[in-house]
Amino acid sequence: MSQTVVITGSSSGIGKTTAQYFHQQGWNVVATMRTPEKEQDLKEDDRMKLMRLDVQEPSTIEETVTKTIETFGHIDVWINNAGYGVMGPVEATTDVQVRRQFDVNYFGVFDCMRAVLPHFRERNAGTLMNISSVGGLLVLPLFGVYNSSKFALEGLTEGLYLDLSSTNIFVKLVEPGGVPTEFNGRSMDPTELTGSLTEYQSLVDNLQKVYSDPNTTKNSTPVDKVAKFIYDAATDGKDQLRYLIGKDAKQLWTLRRRLGYKTQIKLMRKAFKI
Ligand SMILES: NC(=O)c1ccc[n+]([C@@H]2O[C@H](COP(=O)([O-])OP(=O)(O)OC[C@H]3O[C@@H](n4cnc5c(N)ncnc54)[C@H](OP(=O)(O)O)[C@@H]3O)[C@@H](O)[C@H]2O)c1
Repeated sequence: MSQTVVITGSSSGIGKTTAQYFHQQGWNVVATMRTPEKEQDLKEDDRMKLMRLDVQEPSTIEETVTKTIETFGHIDVWINNAGYGVMGPVEATTDVQVRRQFDVNYFGVFDCMRAVLPHFRERNAGTLMNISSVGGLLVLPLFGVYNSSKFALEGLTEGLYLDLSSTNIFVKLVEPGGVPTEFNGRSMDPTELTGSLTEYQSLVDNLQKVYSDPNTTKNSTPVDKVAKFIYDAATDGKDQLRYLIGKDAKQLWTLRRRLGYKTQIKLMRKAFKI
Protein backbone atom coordinates (compact mmCIF):
# COMPACT_ATOMS: atom_id res chain seq x y z
CA MET A 1 0.00 0.00 0.00
CA SER A 2 1.39 3.43 -0.88
CA GLN A 3 2.17 5.81 1.93
CA THR A 4 0.74 9.26 2.59
CA VAL A 5 2.30 12.44 3.95
CA VAL A 6 0.58 15.71 4.89
CA ILE A 7 2.76 18.83 5.02
CA THR A 8 1.76 22.29 6.28
CA GLY A 9 3.20 25.46 4.73
CA SER A 10 3.83 23.85 1.33
CA SER A 11 3.52 27.06 -0.67
CA SER A 12 7.26 27.71 -0.53
CA GLY A 13 10.70 26.85 0.83
CA ILE A 14 11.19 23.75 2.95
CA GLY A 15 7.51 22.71 2.78
CA LYS A 16 7.26 22.87 -1.00
CA THR A 17 10.61 21.15 -1.63
CA THR A 18 9.76 18.41 0.87
CA ALA A 19 6.37 17.88 -0.82
CA GLN A 20 8.17 17.50 -4.17
CA TYR A 21 10.72 15.09 -2.68
CA PHE A 22 8.13 12.77 -1.09
CA HIS A 23 6.20 12.78 -4.39
CA GLN A 24 9.36 11.79 -6.29
CA GLN A 25 9.78 8.87 -3.86
CA GLY A 26 6.34 7.54 -4.83
CA TRP A 27 4.36 8.80 -1.84
CA ASN A 28 0.85 10.25 -1.82
CA VAL A 29 1.33 13.89 -0.88
CA VAL A 30 -1.17 16.32 0.59
CA ALA A 31 0.53 19.68 0.19
CA THR A 32 -1.38 22.12 2.37
CA MET A 33 -1.22 25.89 2.19
CA ARG A 34 -3.28 28.98 2.91
CA THR A 35 -3.94 29.83 -0.75
CA PRO A 36 -3.79 26.70 -2.95
CA GLU A 37 -5.51 28.60 -5.77
CA LYS A 38 -2.28 30.60 -6.21
CA GLU A 39 0.01 27.54 -6.39
CA GLN A 40 2.03 27.33 -9.63
CA ASP A 41 4.72 24.69 -9.06
CA LEU A 42 2.94 21.76 -7.42
CA LYS A 43 0.58 20.13 -9.92
CA GLU A 44 -2.25 17.89 -8.73
CA ASP A 45 -2.28 14.28 -9.92
CA ASP A 46 -3.37 10.90 -8.48
CA ARG A 47 -0.72 11.15 -5.76
CA MET A 48 -0.46 14.94 -5.24
CA LYS A 49 -3.36 16.86 -3.73
CA LEU A 50 -3.40 20.51 -2.70
CA MET A 51 -5.60 21.38 0.28
CA ARG A 52 -6.27 24.65 2.06
CA LEU A 53 -4.93 24.67 5.60
CA ASP A 54 -4.34 27.78 7.66
CA VAL A 55 -2.93 26.77 11.04
CA GLN A 56 -4.84 29.68 12.57
CA GLU A 57 -8.16 28.21 11.36
CA PRO A 58 -8.72 24.90 13.18
CA SER A 59 -11.64 23.91 10.89
CA THR A 60 -9.22 23.77 7.91
CA ILE A 61 -7.00 21.37 9.89
CA GLU A 62 -9.91 19.03 10.71
CA GLU A 63 -11.06 19.15 7.07
CA THR A 64 -7.57 18.22 5.87
CA VAL A 65 -7.45 15.16 8.15
CA THR A 66 -10.91 14.02 7.01
CA LYS A 67 -10.34 14.66 3.29
CA THR A 68 -6.91 13.00 3.33
CA ILE A 69 -8.31 9.83 4.91
CA GLU A 70 -11.21 9.86 2.42
CA THR A 71 -8.79 10.27 -0.50
CA PHE A 72 -5.87 8.05 0.47
CA GLY A 73 -7.29 5.82 3.24
CA HIS A 74 -4.85 6.83 5.95
CA ILE A 75 -2.02 9.19 6.97
CA ASP A 76 1.50 7.84 7.62
CA VAL A 77 3.43 11.05 8.21
CA TRP A 78 2.27 14.53 9.24
CA ILE A 79 4.84 17.33 9.01
CA ASN A 80 4.19 20.61 10.84
CA ASN A 81 6.36 22.95 8.80
CA ALA A 82 4.34 26.21 8.55
CA GLY A 83 6.03 28.99 10.46
CA TYR A 84 7.52 32.47 10.32
CA GLY A 85 9.65 34.73 12.50
CA VAL A 86 9.30 37.98 14.37
CA MET A 87 12.62 39.81 14.10
CA GLY A 88 13.71 42.61 16.39
CA PRO A 89 14.40 43.49 20.00
CA VAL A 90 12.14 41.62 22.43
CA GLU A 91 10.99 44.89 24.05
CA ALA A 92 9.92 46.33 20.68
CA THR A 93 7.59 43.42 19.91
CA THR A 94 3.90 44.37 20.06
CA ASP A 95 1.25 42.31 21.81
CA VAL A 96 -0.31 41.46 18.42
CA GLN A 97 3.06 40.32 17.04
CA VAL A 98 3.98 38.04 19.94
CA ARG A 99 0.52 36.44 20.14
CA ARG A 100 0.40 35.81 16.37
CA GLN A 101 3.92 34.33 16.53
CA PHE A 102 2.78 31.78 19.11
CA ASP A 103 -0.57 31.25 17.35
CA VAL A 104 1.20 30.08 14.19
CA ASN A 105 4.43 28.49 15.45
CA TYR A 106 3.07 26.86 18.63
CA PHE A 107 -0.75 26.73 18.88
CA GLY A 108 -1.05 25.98 15.15
CA VAL A 109 1.17 22.94 15.61
CA PHE A 110 -0.73 21.97 18.76
CA ASP A 111 -4.04 22.03 16.85
CA CYS A 112 -2.59 19.93 14.01
CA MET A 113 -1.20 17.40 16.48
CA ARG A 114 -4.54 17.04 18.26
CA ALA A 115 -6.34 16.65 14.94
CA VAL A 116 -4.14 13.83 13.57
CA LEU A 117 -3.24 11.91 16.74
CA PRO A 118 -6.60 10.09 17.15
CA HIS A 119 -6.01 8.63 13.67
CA PHE A 120 -2.45 7.61 14.57
CA ARG A 121 -3.58 6.06 17.88
CA GLU A 122 -6.39 4.17 16.17
CA ARG A 123 -3.83 2.60 13.80
CA ASN A 124 -1.06 2.48 16.43
CA ALA A 125 1.17 3.84 13.65
CA GLY A 126 2.27 7.15 12.20
CA THR A 127 5.04 9.74 12.37
CA LEU A 128 4.47 13.25 13.66
CA MET A 129 7.30 15.58 12.71
CA ASN A 130 7.65 19.20 13.82
CA ILE A 131 10.03 21.56 12.03
CA SER A 132 11.76 23.48 14.78
CA SER A 133 15.15 25.22 14.42
CA VAL A 134 18.56 25.33 16.05
CA GLY A 135 16.86 28.45 17.43
CA GLY A 136 14.69 26.06 19.44
CA LEU A 137 17.84 25.09 21.36
CA LEU A 138 19.58 28.45 21.75
CA VAL A 139 18.74 32.08 20.96
CA LEU A 140 20.21 34.27 18.25
CA PRO A 141 20.27 38.05 18.72
CA LEU A 142 17.04 39.79 17.54
CA PHE A 143 15.22 36.46 17.43
CA GLY A 144 14.15 36.23 21.09
CA VAL A 145 10.44 36.05 20.27
CA TYR A 146 10.73 33.71 17.26
CA ASN A 147 13.21 31.46 19.06
CA SER A 148 11.05 31.30 22.19
CA SER A 149 8.16 30.01 20.04
CA LYS A 150 10.50 27.23 18.85
CA PHE A 151 11.70 26.57 22.45
CA ALA A 152 8.02 26.09 23.34
CA LEU A 153 7.59 23.79 20.36
CA GLU A 154 10.59 21.74 21.50
CA GLY A 155 9.05 21.30 24.97
CA LEU A 156 5.66 20.39 23.56
CA THR A 157 7.14 17.84 21.18
CA GLU A 158 9.39 16.26 23.81
CA GLY A 159 6.33 15.98 26.08
CA LEU A 160 4.33 14.24 23.35
CA TYR A 161 7.29 11.95 22.61
CA LEU A 162 7.28 10.84 26.26
CA ASP A 163 3.47 10.45 26.38
CA LEU A 164 3.55 8.12 23.38
CA SER A 165 6.51 6.04 24.63
CA SER A 166 4.56 2.78 24.72
CA THR A 167 3.02 3.17 21.23
CA ASN A 168 4.33 2.65 17.71
CA ILE A 169 3.86 6.35 16.93
CA PHE A 170 7.06 8.25 16.18
CA VAL A 171 7.44 11.87 17.29
CA LYS A 172 10.31 13.83 15.75
CA LEU A 173 11.85 17.30 15.67
CA VAL A 174 13.95 18.59 12.78
CA GLU A 175 16.19 21.51 13.78
CA PRO A 176 17.76 23.27 10.79
CA GLY A 177 20.30 26.08 10.89
CA GLY A 178 20.10 28.64 8.09
CA VAL A 179 18.30 27.55 4.91
CA PRO A 180 18.10 30.01 1.99
CA THR A 181 14.31 30.24 1.47
CA GLU A 182 11.85 33.11 1.56
CA PHE A 183 12.02 32.90 5.35
CA ASN A 184 14.40 35.85 5.62
CA GLY A 185 12.19 37.90 3.32
CA ARG A 186 8.45 37.61 3.38
CA SER A 187 8.38 35.31 6.41
CA MET A 188 10.06 37.94 8.59
CA ASP A 189 7.84 40.16 10.72
CA PRO A 190 10.11 43.05 11.78
CA THR A 191 9.44 45.09 14.90
CA GLU A 192 9.07 48.87 14.65
CA LEU A 193 11.35 51.15 16.63
CA THR A 194 9.50 54.24 17.82
CA GLY A 195 9.93 56.62 20.78
CA SER A 196 12.58 55.50 23.25
CA LEU A 197 12.87 52.16 21.39
CA THR A 198 14.97 54.01 18.77
CA GLU A 199 17.79 53.38 21.25
CA TYR A 200 17.90 49.86 19.76
CA GLN A 201 18.44 51.20 16.22
CA SER A 202 22.24 50.92 16.18
CA LEU A 203 22.04 47.33 17.53
CA VAL A 204 19.52 46.42 14.81
CA ASP A 205 21.58 48.08 12.04
CA ASN A 206 24.74 46.34 13.23
CA LEU A 207 23.08 42.91 13.44
CA GLN A 208 21.38 43.27 10.06
CA LYS A 209 24.85 43.80 8.56
CA VAL A 210 26.12 40.66 10.31
CA TYR A 211 23.12 38.56 9.20
CA SER A 212 23.45 39.63 5.56
CA ASP A 213 27.22 39.08 5.50
CA PRO A 214 28.12 36.11 3.24
CA ASN A 215 30.45 34.94 6.02
CA THR A 216 27.46 34.43 8.30
CA THR A 217 25.43 32.51 5.74
CA LYS A 218 28.25 30.45 4.19
CA ASN A 219 27.42 27.40 6.33
CA SER A 220 23.70 27.36 5.57
CA THR A 221 22.11 24.26 3.99
CA PRO A 222 20.45 24.20 0.53
CA VAL A 223 16.73 23.55 0.74
CA ASP A 224 16.84 20.35 -1.37
CA LYS A 225 19.31 18.84 1.14
CA VAL A 226 16.96 19.74 3.97
CA ALA A 227 14.01 18.12 2.13
CA LYS A 228 15.94 14.86 1.68
CA PHE A 229 17.04 15.00 5.32
CA ILE A 230 13.41 15.41 6.42
CA TYR A 231 12.35 12.46 4.24
CA ASP A 232 15.14 10.27 5.65
CA ALA A 233 14.30 11.24 9.24
CA ALA A 234 10.58 10.64 8.68
CA THR A 235 11.15 7.18 7.24
CA ASP A 236 14.13 5.82 9.21
CA GLY A 237 11.94 3.77 11.58
CA LYS A 238 14.02 5.00 14.53
CA ASP A 239 12.76 6.03 17.94
CA GLN A 240 14.75 9.30 17.69
CA LEU A 241 13.35 12.65 18.82
CA ARG A 242 15.86 15.25 17.61
CA TYR A 243 17.51 15.73 14.20
CA LEU A 244 19.88 18.69 13.87
CA ILE A 245 20.83 19.70 10.33
CA GLY A 246 23.37 22.21 9.00
CA LYS A 247 27.04 22.92 9.56
CA ASP A 248 26.08 26.24 11.18
CA ALA A 249 23.53 24.59 13.49
CA LYS A 250 25.96 21.85 14.51
CA GLN A 251 28.75 24.36 15.23
CA LEU A 252 26.50 26.51 17.40
CA TRP A 253 25.04 23.57 19.32
CA THR A 254 28.45 21.95 19.85
CA LEU A 255 29.80 25.22 21.30
CA ARG A 256 26.80 25.50 23.60
CA ARG A 257 27.05 21.90 24.81
CA ARG A 258 30.82 21.67 25.16
CA LEU A 259 31.55 25.12 26.56
CA GLY A 260 28.29 25.90 28.37
CA TYR A 261 25.94 28.80 27.74
CA LYS A 262 28.11 31.50 29.35
CA THR A 263 31.09 30.90 27.07
CA GLN A 264 28.91 30.33 23.98
CA ILE A 265 27.10 33.64 24.56
CA LYS A 266 30.44 35.40 25.16
CA LEU A 267 31.74 34.06 21.83
CA MET A 268 28.52 34.97 20.04
CA ARG A 269 28.60 38.52 21.42
CA LYS A 270 32.16 38.81 20.12
CA ALA A 271 31.27 37.42 16.69
CA PHE A 272 28.20 39.65 16.39
CA LYS A 273 30.03 42.68 17.85
CA ILE A 274 27.30 43.36 20.44
N1 LIG B 1 14.78 29.07 6.39
C1 LIG B 1 15.45 28.93 7.52
O1 LIG B 1 16.59 29.45 7.67
C2 LIG B 1 14.86 28.12 8.65
C3 LIG B 1 15.72 27.70 9.68
C4 LIG B 1 15.21 26.95 10.74
C5 LIG B 1 13.87 26.63 10.76
N2 LIG B 1 13.04 27.05 9.76
C6 LIG B 1 11.60 26.70 9.84
O2 LIG B 1 11.22 26.04 8.66
C7 LIG B 1 9.83 26.24 8.44
C8 LIG B 1 9.60 26.63 6.99
O3 LIG B 1 10.26 27.85 6.72
P1 LIG B 1 10.88 28.18 5.28
O4 LIG B 1 12.31 28.47 5.48
O5 LIG B 1 10.48 27.17 4.29
O6 LIG B 1 10.17 29.59 5.00
P2 LIG B 1 9.14 30.04 3.86
O7 LIG B 1 9.64 29.65 2.52
O8 LIG B 1 8.90 31.49 4.11
O9 LIG B 1 7.82 29.19 4.17
C9 LIG B 1 7.02 29.45 5.28
C10 LIG B 1 5.72 28.72 5.05
O10 LIG B 1 4.88 28.84 6.21
C11 LIG B 1 3.58 29.16 5.76
N3 LIG B 1 2.74 29.83 6.75
C12 LIG B 1 2.97 30.96 7.43
N4 LIG B 1 1.91 31.23 8.23
C13 LIG B 1 1.01 30.23 8.04
C14 LIG B 1 -0.28 29.93 8.56
N5 LIG B 1 -0.90 30.72 9.43
N6 LIG B 1 -0.92 28.78 8.13
C15 LIG B 1 -0.34 27.97 7.24
N7 LIG B 1 0.87 28.23 6.67
C16 LIG B 1 1.53 29.34 7.09
C17 LIG B 1 3.80 30.05 4.55
O11 LIG B 1 2.61 30.09 3.81
P3 LIG B 1 2.07 31.38 3.00
O12 LIG B 1 2.62 31.21 1.61
O13 LIG B 1 0.60 31.23 3.03
O14 LIG B 1 2.59 32.59 3.70
C18 LIG B 1 4.92 29.27 3.87
O15 LIG B 1 4.40 28.19 3.13
C19 LIG B 1 9.37 27.27 9.46
O16 LIG B 1 8.71 26.62 10.53
C20 LIG B 1 10.67 27.89 9.95
O17 LIG B 1 10.56 28.36 11.27
C21 LIG B 1 13.50 27.78 8.70
